[in-house]
Amino acid sequence: MKVDVLLGLQWGDEGKGKVVDYLASKYKVVARFQGGPNAGHTLEFDNIKHVLHQIPSGIFRDDIKNIVGNGVVLDPVIFKKEIEDLKKLGIEATKNLFVSKKTQLILPTHRLLDAHQEKLKGNSKIGSTLKGIGPTYQDKIGRQGLRVGDTLMSDFSERYEKLKSKHIAELDEEGRNQLKELEPAFIEAINYLKTLNLVDGEYFINAELEDGSNVLAEGAQGSLLDVDFGSYPFVTSSNTMVAGACSGLGVAPSKIGEVMGVFKAYCTRVGSGPFPTELFDETGERLRKEGHEFGATTGRPRRCGWLDLPALKYAVMINGVTQLFMMKADVLMSFDKVNVCTGYRLSDGTTTNKLPYDLVNESVEPIYTELPGWNDSMPASGKYEDLSENLQSYIKFIETEVGVPISIVSMGPDRSQTLIR
Ligand code: GDP
Ligand code: IMO
Ligand code: MG
Repeated sequence: MKVDVLLGLQWGDEGKGKVVDYLASKYKVVARFQGGPNAGHTLEFDNIKHVLHQIPSGIFRDDIKNIVGNGVVLDPVIFKKEIEDLKKLGIEATKNLFVSKKTQLILPTHRLLDAHQEKLKGNSKIGSTLKGIGPTYQDKIGRQGLRVGDTLMSDFSERYEKLKSKHIAELDEEGRNQLKELEPAFIEAINYLKTLNLVDGEYFINAELEDGSNVLAEGAQGSLLDVDFGSYPFVTSSNTMVAGACSGLGVAPSKIGEVMGVFKAYCTRVGSGPFPTELFDETGERLRKEGHEFGATTGRPRRCGWLDLPALKYAVMINGVTQLFMMKADVLMSFDKVNVCTGYRLSDGTTTNKLPYDLVNESVEPIYTELPGWNDSMPASGKYEDLSENLQSYIKFIETEVGVPISIVSMGPDRSQTLIR
């Protein structure tokens, strides 16, 4: 069997959690392959809203195995709390939850270093979620990180102390004081982590494929936050693109099946960095209000703007997307006209439909095509054909421009508000 990969094509928060939950019943395994608690994936069904940060979004289905892959950075304190919160809802998450031993651990000092490094950046700060993502990946690449499997070794404490002391040397007095408060919960969470299903993730997942299980790989963040291809340096520290699923799970490229790209009918971004179609006027404010655009992890207001097709096409290209899912079409309801960016005018007066190398310093002015708005909510019939002509034309316009079919249109946050074509 194959690994189908579902990933965000914009700057994150496209609605990945909702679609993973929607599609999960077709899969035997759901796997996270990169990122960590910087992610906030929202699922809504039966009038309850859940936000998952580290646990894969298949956890609400009883018969699905959920695995945290080696490409993830795991905060054991947040992980333990997520499991406990699910327990309060009557969900025994630990039964179907597996963690690769090669997953990197986020230490309390990584979180403190994240805050410290952001402070030093001053005006050029990334707008990190402050979950310790950057410093943990730095230690992984620097070949000094601690992994989940290390917690089972007799010298784990010494290894922890050694890395901790390196971090402390970088922290200021405030950070060192905060560490004293954070450490007891970390030690407790490490002891808890050791009781969970810690596995050799690459063997686990390949054995599942061999046994005939299909796997859904759940991306976090989005392609424009990818450390190689995103709006560098305003990116996260992992490969959010399809290749990250191979290295973050230990599966060969030949095992990848469908690549499902999720995008909003408009654009949002949280944190700093370039955003060519950002709206600073009341239209942007209206998108934020109608779309409830506030971060699922940090609560920060999301920056909002029109759909950016050069950026979307770029994400489709680097990922080899085979199917598109368009989210939040209902949010544009009641806009008389909607704009779609089809190219950029650069500072030298030339135009392009490619993303410039340096989006940070190059001034790009979006070139818009105006399309008529719509007034649709989820059709009672549940049929795509019952959407208005204007919304269907918008969808067709994007498909023609991008060259990939849109196979799911999402018309609301609830699991049931989903149209399949
Ligand atoms: P993720 O990080 O990609 O999983 O996305 P988030 O959960 O951070 O943000 C998406 C937000 O949009 C959540 O609040 C979802 O409940 C909500 N959402 C998802 N799909 C739709 C949709 O089609 N319409 C509306 N109105 N909200 C949606
Ligand atoms: P999901 O999976 C939106 C952004 C942060 C910041 C930058 C780097 O919910 O789509 P980091 O903490 O990773 O060092 O922050 O990336 N960011 C996200 N934005 N959705 C996310 O995840 C994000 N994860 C990180 O706001 O700009
Ligand atoms: Mg999110």
